[in-house]
Amino acid sequence: MKRIDAFVTGGTGFIGRWLLPELTGGGRRVAVLLRDNPDGRHRLAELREWVEARGGRSDLLHGLAGDLTRDDLGMDPADLALARTASQVFHLGAAMSFGLPAEQARQVNVRGSERVAELAASGSSLDRLVLVSGFQHRRSSKLATSRYHDSKLTADARVRDIAEATGVPLTRVHPASVTGDSRTGQTSQFWGWPDLVQALHRGRLPIVPGVRDHRLPLVAVDHLAKFLAGAPELAETAGGQYWLLHDTPPLADLLRIVADELGVATPRLRVPIPLAAMSLQAGLDRWTGISAEALTFLTAQDLPVAEARRVESTLGLTQPDVAELARVTARFLADHGFRPAAS
Ligand SMILES: NC(=O)c1ccc[n+]([C@@H]2O[C@H](COP(=O)([O-])OP(=O)(O)OC[C@H]3O[C@@H](n4cnc5c(N)ncnc54)[C@H](OP(=O)(O)O)[C@@H]3O)[C@@H](O)[C@H]2O)c1
Repeated sequence: MKRIDAFVTGGTGFIGRWLLPELTGGGRRVAVLLRDNPDGRHRLAELREWVEARGGRSDLLHGLAGDLTRDDLGMDPADLALARTASQVFHLGAAMSFGLPAEQARQVNVRGSERVAELAASGSSLDRLVLVSGFQHRRSSKLATSRYHDSKLTADARVRDIAEATGVPLTRVHPASVTGDSRTGQTSQFWGWPDLVQALHRGRLPIVPGVRDHRLPLVAVDHLAKFLAGAPELAETAGGQYWLLHDTPPLADLLRIVADELGVATPRLRVPIPLAAMSLQAGLDRWTGISAEALTFLTAQDLPVAEARRVESTLGLTQPDVAELARVTARFLADHGFRPAAS
């Protein structure tokens, strides 16, 4: 293969997997950065099956061995040259977890993002770099800090600086907490929002973290994937940034919808975030299964969604019903024992 249309990092991840059928289904030749591990071949075969099963074209999907933590993304010269032919670069690769070690946050999320931006800048026909950033808002509490969150904010600023300095057309997307597929609830992410759902299911969520207006904004993974695939096709999204979330009700209401679906009791007592964070840090995190870091994804702010809504409308994307989204995701999680399927 001499040329590709899109180079994707994080293609094996939760969101990346949903993006690949969208890209290849539309005829784009896609190369995915695959971590150089012993089962690399098996991973590509598995990814191709996934893509084919969701209406994508596996014949347009290729794997390039590499790693975000290495110079030139760890790619050999031929693969690097191929990656540089891409007109679109999608950067989704990241280390995501609570309690993320500092060095991993720096090497994967910050330096890795810089490396991808540099690669995009050296491309021969680059038309767009799409950065999947983070859900960015001021923290709800000083007690609930997140190294993941901080590294994503730093990466976002660094990539923006590199793009400005090198003339790379950049589109930044800031998704809220990503749930499963809007029709089936299917997800491969079992932490974050799923931790709250699981605690509720086990009768271990006696309180609602946050006061009246606190929300945990959600976005469905299929909706996000369609947005990511479609946005760089529009000239007006160059230089834009988009907060992607559905109109999510306050957390207390969202939990009630999920509790009704799962047939469990709804917590009523609202506890301010600092107090909830302190209680979790004092040991309640083990009993509930909820990390204090999860509280960094709650917000009482209104996020600037108008630009994203305009692009969604141009792309013909409609908002799923959030109550139904919460219900199908909760049902999927419960039916799967809140655990990824054994591979
Ligand atoms: N999920 C959410 O709720 C959410 C919300 C807002 C923003 N985001 C952002 O969206 C992006 C995708 O998230 P996700 O939920 O799909 O994450 P994920 O499921 O954890 O996937 C992470 C991806 O990054 C890859 N990766 C990690 N370290 C790497 C390294 N050193 N070199 C190469 N690849 C590496 C992983 O590859 P392996 O398969 O080899 O591990 C995987 O493909 C991330 O940037 C994340 O910060 C996610």
